Amino acid sequence: MTPALHIATVGDDAFVPAAVCDTAPTVREQLRRQDPARLREIDACMTAAPHVLPAWVVGRGIDLGQLDRLTQDLALDGLPPAIRRSSRARQLGYLGGRLCAETALLSLPDRRGDPCAAPAATLAAAIPIGDGGAPQWPEGVIGSIAHTRDGAWAVVAASAACMRLGIDSEFIVDEGGCRDIVTLCCTPRERLRWFEVADPLRATLLFSAKESIYKAIHPQVKRFVDFDEMEMVGIDALPGLLCLHFRATPEGPLAGRIPALRVHARLIGDRVHTAIAEHQD
Ligand SMILES: CC(C)(COP(=O)(O)OP(=O)(O)OC[C@H]1O[C@@H](n2cnc3c(N)ncnc32)[C@H](O)[C@@H]1OP(=O)(O)O)[C@@H](O)C(=O)NCCC(=O)NCCS
Repeated sequence: MTPALHIATVGDDAFVPAAVCDTAPTVREQLRRQDPARLREIDACMTAAPHVLPAWVVGRGIDLGQLDRLTQDLALDGLPPAIRRSSRARQLGYLGGRLCAETALLSLPDRRGDPCAAPAATLAAAIPIGDGGAPQWPEGVIGSIAHTRDGAWAVVAASAACMRLGIDSEFIVDEGGCRDIVTLCCTPRERLRWFEVADPLRATLLFSAKESIYKAIHPQVKRFVDFDEMEMVGIDALPGLLCLHFRATPEGPLAGRIPALRVHARLIGDRVHTAIAEHQD
């Protein structure tokens, strides 16, 4: 990764001339060039991500209704062509996810001399769409992005500190959604153990956890992973959160390749937020 020439901070208005910046401009930079005051308003809307995260992971979130109002009159020429051609909802999800990710990167502590610190020069880098739709993180960083129709979130960590990172957020499904998850996303053992009685919340948790796991393990497995390749083997209720235990399905191709994984879940209103964040040993 060629070092960017400028390390911005949230709300920083210093201009990076395109001619000396040899990476694609970040979404933040594209918006700042159009309207610095608007970028400050967007920054003011940023929140912490609601996912359960260890201290060495930085997470940010944004309400997509607010982002819609704040970006309606702005040009989106710098976004990837596929996103420019997409629906406004998809554009907002992409914009929101990238803005959260870029803002989280700027907040990643620049711990010089700390082996777990991300290289400082990467923190203002753009995040292109990589293999299989996965975000292509700057060198020395890993992260994950999730969005629903009304919110977007991103988490980042130094890859020297973090081995696997994945988040997901979902609205709790209705009974039909529960049936679909049980039919399409569960192993026979999971159906027997967890869904003798229909349970939309549990189904949503299982689904969201598997999506978090997919995002977290994709950089390692580098292929599509089916829902029956991992299975939920335990649920612990802790104060204010749940800890879901997964293993690679013993008969499946990930057995022996992916260790037991813990996904933490937080339930807020009608949404669940799941996260997996594994420290390097
Ligand atoms: C890729 C997938 C997990 C995304 O989940 P989703 O609920 O549709 O959408 P979300 O809003 O939660 O997440 C979208 C973000 O995921 C990220 N993403 C997409 N593909 C990814 C991949 N292969 N690896 C890591 N992250 C990925 C992207 O950042 C994307 O946002 P962006 O396109 O704006 O950059 C989902 O579409 C999918 O293909 N699931 C099937 C595979 C699976 O989950 N298997 C379970 C194995 S146990």
